[in-house]
Amino acid sequence: METKRYDETELKEAAKALKAGELVAFPTETVYGLGANALLPNTVKKVFSVKGRPQDNPLIVHVASFEQVKEYVDNFHPETEKIVKNFWPGPLTLIFKIKKDTLPSVVTGGLSTAAFRMPDNKKTLEVIELSGVPLVGPSANTSGKPSPTTADHVFHDLQGKITGIIEDGATRIGVESTVLDLSNPTAMPMILRPGAVTKEQIEAVIGSPVAVDQHLVKENETPKAPGMKYKHYSPDTRVLMVRDSDWSIAVQWAKNKKIRAGVIASPEIADQVRTDTAAVYMYNDNSVEAAAKGLFAGLRGLDEPTLGLDLIFVQVYPETGLGNAYMNRLKKAAGQNYFEK
Ligand code: TXA
Ligand code: MG
Repeated sequence: METKRYDETELKEAAKALKAGELVAFPTETVYGLGANALLPNTVKKVFSVKGRPQDNPLIVHVASFEQVKEYVDNFHPETEKIVKNFWPGPLTLIFKIKKDTLPSVVTGGLSTAAFRMPDNKKTLEVIELSGVPLVGPSANTSGKPSPTTADHVFHDLQGKITGIIEDGATRIGVESTVLDLSNPTAMPMILRPGAVTKEQIEAVIGSPVAVDQHLVKENETPKAPGMKYKHYSPDTRVLMVRDSDWSIAVQWAKNKKIRAGVIASPEIADQVRTDTAAVYMYNDNSVEAAAKGLFAGLRGLDEPTLGLDLIFVQVYPETGLGNAYMNRLKKAAGQNYFEK
């Protein structure tokens, strides 16, 4: 199969293919998604096999309006309207209890709940509308690899395996959406995955506290047995996080040991260590926004076999606001490991 690149004049064609059960990757403001008609179980099964994704990991249903969610959900959390009004379209996925027998169980992983998101991308919203069906959309990467933030990343992983890609340049945010559990109408909303919409922003909108999943907090701490269990978003090359005060020691250590080290960091740090490293991927500026936007592209870029790197050093950011989402993804890529003096 030759994977087609759809431009903005071909959105109708992309929508038609999706409706008919073909796989088409789509851009969003977070990362590119692997689109498929959520109502066709066999099509959704293909999504899992193309990505190599475990079947028990449920998918996000992408919609073009909140109205569309009401076809599948009738029991909403009381804060839903406020949250939707403030954050949709946008990088916030909402988990609701669904009506029985409305979505195929392959979408929900057999759960009684489902995840919904209205992405903030004009082309993708138009394609969802034109297709007339909700679209599942896991990140359009091979499972375990960094999520794709450009159409080229999608091509690299899925070329020949899917019908097409709707092209739209680099994604604006660069890390996946915040996942917020609203499935229990009497419970406090709970963040299951940190993203660009923060706990503080949601609390400001609803005027009451939001919980953060304890499991996730545990993941953010250094586990007793670091390694495979926590490894996701990983390039093949080993990744180490570097604390701000450790950069010159880390780079000197690699040089002494004849380790070919690459660096992913802000211009401020990259400029300091450039001459002593084998390759540098620089974020656009010294902000955590630029870091989140560039992290996956940097990991993919420095993982290129032609560079022959032994190790990738990556800058850390404080775990507040967007820094929570950035560090969550980085810790997984690094298997929780920091450079230690
Ligand atoms: O930004 C994003 O969310 C991107 C773009 C393409 O929209 N999509 C994305 O999908 O990241 P994926 O499949 O890589 O991540 C979906 C996350 C997983 O962590 C999954 O476990 C969780 O959402 N999820 C889905 N349904 C759920 C449910 N019913 N309950 C709890 N978690 C759920
Ligand atoms: Mg993913």
